[in-house]
Amino acid sequence: MEIFMTAKRSWRKLSRRNFIQTAAAAAAAPFVIPASAIGADGETAPSERITVGHIGVGGRGGGIFRHVQPHKAAQSVAAADCFKSRREGFAAVCKGKAYADFREILARDDVDAVIIATPDHWHVPAALAAAKAKKHVYLEKPLGLTIEQNLMLQKAFAGTGLVFQYGTQQRSMEKCRHACALVRSGVLGKITAIEVDAPNGGKGGSAAEAPVPPDLGEDGYEMWVGPAPKKPFTPDRCKPPGTYWIYDYSVGYLGGWGAHPLDLMVWGSDADLSGIITVEGTGDVPAEGLYDTVYNWNMKIKLGEVDFTFRTGSDRTRFIGERGWIETGRHWEKAGDPELLKVPVDAYEVLRLPKRDAAAVQNLAGDSHSGDFIAAIKTGTAAVSTLKDAVRSDNITQLCDIAVRTKSAVKWDPVRFQLVDATPEQTKMLSRPMREPWTL
Ligand SMILES: NC(=O)c1ccc[n+]([C@@H]2O[C@H](COP(=O)([O-])OP(=O)(O)OC[C@H]3O[C@@H](n4cnc5c(N)ncnc54)[C@H](O)[C@@H]3O)[C@@H](O)[C@H]2O)c1
Repeated sequence: MEIFMTAKRSWRKLSRRNFIQTAAAAAAAPFVIPASAIGADGETAPSERITVGHIGVGGRGGGIFRHVQPHKAAQSVAAADCFKSRREGFAAVCKGKAYADFREILARDDVDAVIIATPDHWHVPAALAAAKAKKHVYLEKPLGLTIEQNLMLQKAFAGTGLVFQYGTQQRSMEKCRHACALVRSGVLGKITAIEVDAPNGGKGGSAAEAPVPPDLGEDGYEMWVGPAPKKPFTPDRCKPPGTYWIYDYSVGYLGGWGAHPLDLMVWGSDADLSGIITVEGTGDVPAEGLYDTVYNWNMKIKLGEVDFTFRTGSDRTRFIGERGWIETGRHWEKAGDPELLKVPVDAYEVLRLPKRDAAAVQNLAGDSHSGDFIAAIKTGTAAVSTLKDAVRSDNITQLCDIAVRTKSAVKWDPVRFQLVDATPEQTKMLSRPMREPWTL
């Protein structure tokens, strides 16, 4: 078994810090090292494992923590969360340390990578701090709360050699990869239209004030809210779907769910780079209750010449071209003409993915999105769900939110990263203030 690597030496000979720098400066031409050198033939020595800190170990972060435990090349060493029982529970499982303040994990020299699965308003601030501390980052979707946050994150990682994995795990699902590769290979001819549907958000949530539970505590609540506006505690606030549907912390399911099928749209088509993006449409914003993010959205978007709709519904991305259509979503693919799915395609070649030996990767890191993250760090290659593409799909989410809330058509230049002919109202929505002492 062999594995491709871009660095000039086996990672075994490199210290972790040197490795980051070497990977950043690595020559483009790949060369081959035996899989045995990355531990595929047995256990990886503890000193050679990627050490991982988990930031946010609620529903999703707890799930990823469990995925990481069987990885032979990774070792969880720390868990940070605002809820005491969560951080202490997960730290005990990995025999690591529990932290109320994630910055203490970032300050540790012996931590290589962090997995961030906090509520959305913490995604970019925490990832920016992680980049500054030279940690590889697995960041849950959606990306930022604003386009400004997305662009700042992109800038912060540029040229660092740090691995970034976006939490759109469909990219590690074979059927999604296959469908996107087929579309990118041109089997449909020219793409004329794209349809993306994502599950709907909702309204409700009680705004009735309540004492902060002891497991969270006043300090924990302060950290949970972080850079967002601080409001009196209410039980529906600090748990899903409050985590997903309160505008102080999120743009709602436009991004919370939309991130997944929009990411496949970007991966399969590149259509968002085909010229000025024009976004218009409608959506509802709840007038009462705690939840106040957009739901029932129905967006009409022009991606250059491509007609693109983004609506609430199931979870799917359909590409329509001159020769038919191909559709994909979690673990499935479909085509108007099933013969289209049989056209031979080398997905790795078409999508320009690093050719990591599947068996070797599975052996060292498990066959999963977090496994891909660990394998990317080990082999000095990019992870499958890049920050560049995360910014592209998340910016579309942000443009939809701006269009619905300002009730106006929004134009975006995806190359210059700026609004075109913007109204002051639209421009204002490119950024949000941060509550002191937090800054980007
Ligand atoms: N990829 C997926 O399929 C998927 C699925 C579900 C959720 N998510 C994403 O995961 C994120 C978390 O969602 P969830 O369902 O786990 O919510 P959750 O509320 O269950 O968990 C979030 C956790 O983060 C903690 N947290 C908040 N601020 C923190 C801070 N400053 N430092 C450390 N911990 C902090 C909270 O205390 C909580 O335990 C969201 O961004 C969501 O969009 C992704």
